[in-house]
Amino acid sequence: MATATGMTTAETLDLFKKYVVPNYARYPIVLVRGEGSYVWDSEGNRYLDFFPGWGCNLLGHCPEPIVRAVQQQVATLIHVPNTWHTEAQGLWAQALSERSFGGQAFFCNSGAEANEAAIKLVRLHTPKERYKIITFRGGFHGRTLAATAATAQPKYHEGIGPLMAGFQYAPFGDLEATARLIDRETAGIMIEPVQGEGGVQIPPDGFLQGLRKLADDNSLLLVFDEVQTGCGRTGEWFAYQHFGVTPDIMTLAKAVCGGIAGAAMLTTAEIAPSLRPGMHAATFGGNPIAARAGLAAIEMIEQENLLQQAQQIGDVFRARLNELRTQCEIIRDVRILGVMIGIELAVEGAPLVKTCLERRLLINCTQGTVIRLLPAMNLTVQQAHDGCDILAKAIKELCVI
Ligand SMILES: Cc1ncc(COP(=O)(O)O)c(C=O)c1O
Repeated sequence: MATATGMTTAETLDLFKKYVVPNYARYPIVLVRGEGSYVWDSEGNRYLDFFPGWGCNLLGHCPEPIVRAVQQQVATLIHVPNTWHTEAQGLWAQALSERSFGGQAFFCNSGAEANEAAIKLVRLHTPKERYKIITFRGGFHGRTLAATAATAQPKYHEGIGPLMAGFQYAPFGDLEATARLIDRETAGIMIEPVQGEGGVQIPPDGFLQGLRKLADDNSLLLVFDEVQTGCGRTGEWFAYQHFGVTPDIMTLAKAVCGGIAGAAMLTTAEIAPSLRPGMHAATFGGNPIAARAGLAAIEMIEQENLLQQAQQIGDVFRARLNELRTQCEIIRDVRILGVMIGIELAVEGAPLVKTCLERRLLINCTQGTVIRLLPAMNLTVQQAHDGCDILAKAIKELCVI
């Protein structure tokens, strides 16, 4: 089947071979269209997508309110830099502020960029001698050099050293070890409230509260990287709201614009002025298209009651996967918060991803053995069951081997 431009699948793959830097492991599939939780390839195959856009398409593919908002904005004003004010950026900042901890937003374009802003702000806001930030093993904060240094996983550090100085790594969930790392040079603590790429790791009871106390007792800033967990993914606007712990700084990206590229760093009105004019910027940050898409995403989630739906869909997965776990001993653990789902296996997950792909279900594997699902929050109950049927059958086949 030819694509909209008349190219065959082979011709597109050939373009990539010749002209695109080979830094991604890509499936030999060309995707041409998406709608809700389905995508179609250039051969006409339809896939049920339990991992839409690596977590960016939390509202499904091409959600109508986002499409409409972008279409209207793109015909009115595509981009103006941050030397000007736009109504859209102001309203977007207000909407995020009102749904989180108040305060103010800095806008940029990606999760790594939002974390860079957070790292700079931590250093700028604390006394000069304080520059160290404690992050957590298994965490993931992005691919820029500072974000990579913040990411406490040696595999991402290979060959790119020397790393940016100032990051210290603590075991996720270990308060005492975290406390031992704090000294007079420590400026902040940065953590994903639920680790995503690290295998959907939910913190033990009291851990985030303990970090808040450590930060308060030692005058440190607490940063929550909610790039993956934010914007409704866990069934609350932000994952921290499950734990009753408020950060000083929070970063958002992935789903924040309903699938359009965009990101934000939020902080309190007291801390925000430390990022003074000239210290930081992003040319495209908070552009009118991203801002309108961000506003439309918030409106859609509220109008369609999607926070509640995310929790209900999470419950469907919990019931299905816990039942499967009783029948299949290769499932070691099931970890779910809203539509953030991890299935820890006793075996490598890659063959399962391949089998599901062949059966037209898209899933992800992280850390070698954790099947990660980040379905859309407007996935239907029927679609959840359809995908779980495929997944359950494929996992049971692995059990038999
Ligand atoms: C928790 C977290 N932080 C940061 C990032 C980096 O985001 P981006 O790829 O938009 O730079 C990711 C990406 O997966 C993430 O999961």
